[in-house]
Amino acid sequence: MIFVTGGAGYIGSHTCVELLNAGLDVTVFDNFSNSQPEALSRVQSIAGKQLRVVEGDIRDGVALQQALADSGAKAVIHFAGLKAVGESEAEPLRYYDNNVVGTMRLLEAMKATGVKQMVFSSSATVYGVPQFLPYTEQHPLSATNTYGQTKLAVESMLRDVHRSDPEWRFAILRYFNPVGAHPSGRIGEDPQGVPNNLMPFVAQVAVGRREFLNVWGNDYPTPDGTGVRDYIHVVDLALGHVKAVQFLEREAGCNAINLGSGVGHSVLDLVRAFERVSNRPVPFKVGPRRSGDIAESWANPALAKNLLGWSAMSDLNKLCADTWNWQTRNPNGYTG
Ligand code: NAD
Ligand code: UFG
Repeated sequence: MIFVTGGAGYIGSHTCVELLNAGLDVTVFDNFSNSQPEALSRVQSIAGKQLRVVEGDIRDGVALQQALADSGAKAVIHFAGLKAVGESEAEPLRYYDNNVVGTMRLLEAMKATGVKQMVFSSSATVYGVPQFLPYTEQHPLSATNTYGQTKLAVESMLRDVHRSDPEWRFAILRYFNPVGAHPSGRIGEDPQGVPNNLMPFVAQVAVGRREFLNVWGNDYPTPDGTGVRDYIHVVDLALGHVKAVQFLEREAGCNAINLGSGVGHSVLDLVRAFERVSNRPVPFKVGPRRSGDIAESWANPALAKNLLGWSAMSDLNKLCADTWNWQTRNPNGYTG
């Protein structure tokens, strides 16, 4: 049994499908602050298996400990958290409370119930401005915003807990840019309001929900002047979590591991690929750089291959095709 906090969210829902497909039992613990129960109904229908759902907040230590004990889980995958960079700058205390205090409550509940394996959702944002590329796990860590600080704080907390008691096992997964959707088109990313991220914005332009894309800067020192990122298919990412859970079963330690493809694509690469697969125009206007953005980011994914036996399989066309499939089947997300 795997206990999945935030399992109803974008990455969590895709991971639940792959956990069920791998024959693992799943309990989801989610407060649905940024997701819908409908996502979990669809997860079960895709996998053809049931999972347990407990509605609750990770900061509610009593409810959390009860749910964890009831689940009989041996390991936790911890997705629950807030992730909007701009919002984290406006409301830092809410971010520290949800992401850092919430994780502390979770570790306390795990300690009380003797569950000592956790896969944690970290982010490539902990590398800050690149001093070299591709980023390896040894790259110096820094944060340029509150969201990134909360990820750094949790990473440190996990390393400290592990040092105090090496029976704890942690896989700290540093995701690059998760995009795409399940190939069934039944689950996908459902951002509330105006999307901050490139792929959902492009998809909404292509489907006609928004008029044009703002390209945030075309004067970066990159091949076409636009920002370069390592986009990773959410199903590849989900499979990485199954591998991480299996890894923790056999290996002790506290390891930070990049989950990326190792390939960078520019904003315009992604726009052109999306136009090709959707056969729709994606009009854009070039605007100023977005504050806090870096020019380029991509992973060295060698450690994930060595430790987990995992690597990304999907190319840019597949990322766009699956996003388009989800977008056209669910033009208004889960609520439509
Ligand atoms: P998401 O918002 O879709 O999912 C997060 C889930 O956690 C939601 O279902 C939400 O309702 C739940 N949640 C939030 N606070 C909670 C709380 N206090 N108690 C219980 N449940 C709570 O986000 P996602 O894109 O699936 O991201 C999952 C994790 O991966 C997050 O920790 C995020 O920071 C991290 N991450 C995401 C990205 C990305 O670009 N999507 C990149 C790097 C890291
Ligand atoms: N971009 C645009 N227009 C948009 C949105 C984005 O041109 O409307 C550009 C950005 O300037 C950047 C690229 O598209 O060059 C990707 O931007 P995203 O917002 O999709 O992704 P980021 O790399 O900025 O950040 C994402 C998550 C962070 C996470 C980071 C690393 O939002 O939370 O990946 O994992 F930390």
